[in-house]
Amino acid sequence: MGKKVVSPGGNVSGVVELPGDKSISHRYGILASLAEGNSEIANYASAADCRSTLECMRRLGVEMSIMPERIKIAGVGLHGLKAARRSLNAENSGSTIRMLSGVLAGQSFNTAITGDSSLRRRPMRRVIEPLKQMGAEIESQEGGRAPLEIRGRKLHAIDYTTPIPSAQVKSAILLAGLYADGSTIVRESVATRDHTERALIGFGATIENVNGTKGAVRVHPEPKLTGRQLVVPGDLSAAVFLIGATIVLPDSSITLHNVGLNPTRAKVLDFLISIGASIQVGSLQMRDGELVGDLAVRHAQLAGGTVSGSQVAEMIDELPMLAALGPFTEKGIEIHDAQELRVKESDRIAAIAEGLRLMGASVEEFPDGMRVEGRSAGKLRGAKVDPKGDHRIAMALSVAALGAEGDTTIRDADCVGVSFPEFFATLDRLRGGPGAA
Ligand code: S3P
Repeated sequence: MGKKVVSPGGNVSGVVELPGDKSISHRYGILASLAEGNSEIANYASAADCRSTLECMRRLGVEMSIMPERIKIAGVGLHGLKAARRSLNAENSGSTIRMLSGVLAGQSFNTAITGDSSLRRRPMRRVIEPLKQMGAEIESQEGGRAPLEIRGRKLHAIDYTTPIPSAQVKSAILLAGLYADGSTIVRESVATRDHTERALIGFGATIENVNGTKGAVRVHPEPKLTGRQLVVPGDLSAAVFLIGATIVLPDSSITLHNVGLNPTRAKVLDFLISIGASIQVGSLQMRDGELVGDLAVRHAQLAGGTVSGSQVAEMIDELPMLAALGPFTEKGIEIHDAQELRVKESDRIAAIAEGLRLMGASVEEFPDGMRVEGRSAGKLRGAKVDPKGDHRIAMALSVAALGAEGDTTIRDADCVGVSFPEFFATLDRLRGGPGAA
């Protein structure tokens, strides 16, 4: 696809079945591989990141068949993985390399794992440190970067407090804890997404909150994991870009079916509603341990507001979209305490600030966030923007482009495939365009 030209105007309306949640798909792919017996996973994410996880598991000797509607994985059991002949490649996926590091640290063989140029710039010490405390041997490049060389061995149980709230780090330790000599505890200051815990329970592991406290979880080693049939909920972090389109385009109204609404993920909806968004939640149900529901979203004018403190970890992937909504709000959007955004697939603070500025927005950048002025700073205008190869920046700028004057050209727009390959086609269909049924 290369570049994509986004023309402004019109509205969005219609019904969407979202692709499977990226975070949950990674976990099901890994745990189904480590389970005994077969698993069948419906609505597994179409995201390239989740294919990277499956490809890594394949190279570790797991057989699977991937069909459009579902994937089948023949689990090899906790100790059934085999040494890969070549280095594993997590491509653009931080979740893949970090979570698999936990699994690989506990094997009886060595594994090398690398990623694309973006992933090789991202910090890995956050998983290396706790895994080393568990007795793992991991060699990294300068600055604690990938490629990593992981020498598997029997691990020790630890009681670890994460310095930065990170579900990827928590998950890496919990997965390593499956191979430890006692029960492993992870404590975090903000309770991050708990899909690993929920999936582990579903596959048969024993996990509990320490003293009933959220944010402190204990996993017991050597569980018997059993293959299962699962349906992955729709990806709320992808849905947020379509919700963004309804906010930017007047007279818009969409319905999103079967969206994952796990409370550790859904804070972005609370925030949007608190600043004026019209989002109705219906048909709530628990499916495979995850909360799922439908969202009815209508265009509404937003007041704007500030995101800071614990909200940052709770809405980490949605912050680029919220920033891009700034120019469409009354008071603008301000983000603080979000230095983590600088070490995502791109420096997301710099990337979104640059793109919005090129479109005429008034943006002040802070080391840990930004302030994007509201409507009074004037209407956006179409521009040529560079999402820096980052899927969420490309989608956030595309949504802002819907409300600009004139066309916007998004460079390397196919990077959206990392999490939401159907994004542009879905947007076109909801606008009554070429993808319309
Ligand atoms: C993810 C956790 C988050 C998030 C990423 C997916 C996960 O990263 O940004 O897109 O699936 O656990 P951190 O846990 O590093 O903040």
